[in-house]
Amino acid sequence: MLFKQQALLRQKLFVLGSLAIGSLLYLVARVGSLDRLQPICPIDSRLGPPHLPEQIPLRTLQYKRGLLHELRKGNATKEQIRLHNLVQQLPRAIIIGVRKGGTRALLEMLNLHPAVVKASQEIHFFDNDQNYARGIDWYREKMPFSFPHQITIEKSPAYFITEEVPERIFKMNSSIKLLIIVREPTTRAVSDYTQVLEGKERKNKTYHKFEKLAIDGNTCEVNTKYKAVRTSIYTKHLERWLKYFPVEQFHIVDGDRLITDPLPELQLVERFLNLPSRISHYNLYFNATRGFYCLRFNIVFNKCLAGSKGRIHPEVDPSVVAKLRKFFHPFNQKFYQITGRTFNWP
Ligand code: A3P
Repeated sequence: MLFKQQALLRQKLFVLGSLAIGSLLYLVARVGSLDRLQPICPIDSRLGPPHLPEQIPLRTLQYKRGLLHELRKGNATKEQIRLHNLVQQLPRAIIIGVRKGGTRALLEMLNLHPAVVKASQEIHFFDNDQNYARGIDWYREKMPFSFPHQITIEKSPAYFITEEVPERIFKMNSSIKLLIIVREPTTRAVSDYTQVLEGKERKNKTYHKFEKLAIDGNTCEVNTKYKAVRTSIYTKHLERWLKYFPVEQFHIVDGDRLITDPLPELQLVERFLNLPSRISHYNLYFNATRGFYCLRFNIVFNKCLAGSKGRIHPEVDPSVVAKLRKFFHPFNQKFYQITGRTFNWP
């Protein structure tokens, strides 16, 4: 009998303990997310000191964030959209490239900032003639709902290399902020190849080796007709953009550092976008299984990028790597000179 009573008491204590721990975790989660919901300032000028944000009651913002989440799930009503002054805004910043530079990681990480709202899909408005012909209202309708003080960001890496895009973006907004994330050009080219190779393998198709594509079999020189090589000549593409936008409207992100140490890169972007610094160490943690940094929104919600980000690259003949690096070298020097950002690329 005594034993039974003791067991019952232990059970009760266990339930009470679990409830207490649960409540504590909930409180910590709320405080964590409240901390991220500081007021925000609008984009004004490049690299100006972060503006003192207009005071917005934290509780209101917290509620609004929840509403945005419901909207994304399609659960918010038209009345709620009207009441809370929610809008679909054209992007005030675009990640224009470079493909395989880390564009998805950059977008997702920026989305940790309470003032940033991302367009989840690549819209391909400016590089696809059919989409472009649908007009700017079609583009706006592709944007997520946001509060007027927030900024919308989209990414479509094809923009960087498509000839018509700079003029088209200029016509939409000549003062838009443009983000370009780059990696060491040869590594980027191999990453590009790996993505295409995986696509072929999925369809049970065979594909050439990287070496065969990157080097012209007749001349033994670098094959500049190969798209993965051409995309990595960053300066050539940038020069086309500079016919429309001054260099101050671009910010170059180091994609190699975004992999190994993302926070400083994100802080530079926050400054460029004139946003108060809100992304912190708390929001980024290294996941050893994944081999990459993952994102922590609060104690409950965290996520890593999909498995298609961070593929294992095939081994490439070192002499081909050396040839490519030598080929890219002068273009890289020009890129550093134009952008004012220097990398330790070989
Ligand atoms: P690899 O697959 O070559 O490793 P994009 O989004 O522009 O296609 O770029 C993909 C690249 O983002 C990946 O290239 C990967 O290295 C890089 N990346 C940067 N940060 C990452 C992260 N936190 N998780 C996964 N991949 C990341």
